[in-house]
Parts: sequence; C-alpha cells; structure tokens
Amino acid sequence: MALAGTAWRWVAATAQSQLGSRVGLGPQGVLVTDIDPRFLESLKLPNLEVRRHHIASDPLPEAFFDLVHSRLVLLHLPEREKALARMVAALKPGGWLVDEEFDSSSTPSDPIVNPGRLFRKTHIAMTRLMDNHGLDRAYGRRLFGRLRAHGLTSVAAEGRIFMWHPGCPGASLLRANYEQLHSAMIDAGYITEEDFDRDMARLDDPSFMMPSPILLGGLGTAALTEGRFPVGTLPVPFTGVARKLRIFRGEAGYRP
Ligand SMILES: C[S@@+](CC[C@H](N)C(=O)[O-])C[C@H]1O[C@@H](n2cnc3c(N)ncnc32)[C@H](O)[C@@H]1O
Repeated sequence: MALAGTAWRWVAATAQSQLGSRVGLGPQGVLVTDIDPRFLESLKLPNLEVRRHHIASDPLPEAFFDLVHSRLVLLHLPEREKALARMVAALKPGGWLVDEEFDSSSTPSDPIVNPGRLFRKTHIAMTRLMDNHGLDRAYGRRLFGRLRAHGLTSVAAEGRIFMWHPGCPGASLLRANYEQLHSAMIDAGYITEEDFDRDMARLDDPSFMMPSPILLGGLGTAALTEGRFPVGTLPVPFTGVARKLRIFRGEAGYRP
C-alpha cells in the first residue's frame, strides 16, 4: 500500500484493522512519500513508513500496492504524466488509485457576482508565478480523462467547492500560500510590499468571500488478470472511498 500525500492517518488505521496481513509492505503496511517530508517525520505509527521521494524519478516498486492515494501533488509537477504512469504501474492488478486535484480554472473570483470577491493583486501574482512554474490550474478537470488514458478502469470523479471567508481554513491556506511566495512575487515585480500588506489585510475583512477551486476526487482500478478480483476491502464504491477520505480530512483538520 502506498500514499503520496496525506491520507496516511485514515489509511494506516484502516490497513491495520481491515487488511491485516495482506498489506504490501510487510509490517510497515503504509508508505507515505513526499519530496519534502518535514511535516511527516514526527509520525509514529507501527505500520507507517515515511520516505523522502521524488514521485517522478525515485525508485518505486511495480505491481506492489493495493491502494495509491495522492492529493494536490500532480497539478504542481511539470512531469505529472510520468508521475501518474508510475503510480498506476505501482498498483497490483485490481489495486486502486485515488487522486484529488484542484481545478481553479472554472471558478474565477468575480466581484460582479459579489463585491466581496475582491480581485486581489497578490492572488493574480501568485497565479502568474504558478503558471510560470508549470502548474496546471485545470488539472482537476482533466483528472477523469487522465485516469482513463493511463488504462485504469471503473474510473469515476466528483467535485466539491466551498465559499472561503475570513477565518475559514481556506483563508488560512491562501494566507500561507501568499506568505510562502511573498519574496518571489516581489522579486518578479508582480506586486509591491504595499499591495501585499493590503491584500493580506483583506483576508480578514468581513466583506471578503470567494469560491474555492473545485476539489476533484478521481479514482480507478488497475486492470485485473483473468480470474482475479479487486484487492481487499478498500475498493468499495466511489462514494464510500470519498466518504472515508472526507472523514480523514476532518481528522487532519484540512477543510478548504
Ligand atoms: C500542495 S502540497 C499538498 C500536500 C498534501 N498532499 C495535502 O494534500 O495536504 C504539495 C506537496 O507535493 C510535494 N511535492 C512536490 N513535488 C514533489 C515531487 N516531485 N515528488 C513528491 N512530492 C512532491 C510537496 O513537498 C508538497 O508536500
């Protein structure tokens, strides 16, 4: 079993209680990978291994895992096609891939719909920087097609959208993103310090509101060889997987 991302908590617990000895990594039933695992290193679960790992180039076993989950990673990677191909190849026949990605191209903030959806220079600057670095803002919408194109079957996808407002977790996510890119946005000449300070303050303005990107969750299963059936108890119908992942997100405190 493998995870590229953060669904580790729910899956590690589920792997212990439901899969028992059938997990793929011996006593370390769940592998969590990230190129920068600093937020994962404090994790201490008996069946969980954390590994620093580049998803597009570091070694990854093939036909090995019952479930591969990733969230908000592929949309960032210029080599996302290669990474997805490797994640699919890592599945056992009948194993499941679950991926969640934003589509921020379909719901641009529009102050005509509501004046509180302020068009902020910092947000536009962040978007420009992300475009420069090859982020695919429509990847959530592409996900269903990409899972099919990589040979998965029983492919399904569904989306969720939230209204972001002062104090909600989505506003905190925006603040963290702006802070992380502050120097790069200034250095690129996209904004001034005054723009930045004004837009950060707007995140706390009671009139601030904007739709989140659509969070698309997609899943599909690797082709079965003749006479084999989907692996384990995790491949429940999609709504079941989505519900469990939502429960996980609640435990992790991530509600955009
Ligand atoms: C937007 S964050 C999402 C984090 C987490 N998956 C979540 O949903 O909360 C993107 C993550 O992708 C990781 N990442 C970026 N490039 C990567 C790569 N080439 N291989 C593996 N992970 C990568 C980053 O370190 C970061 O943790």
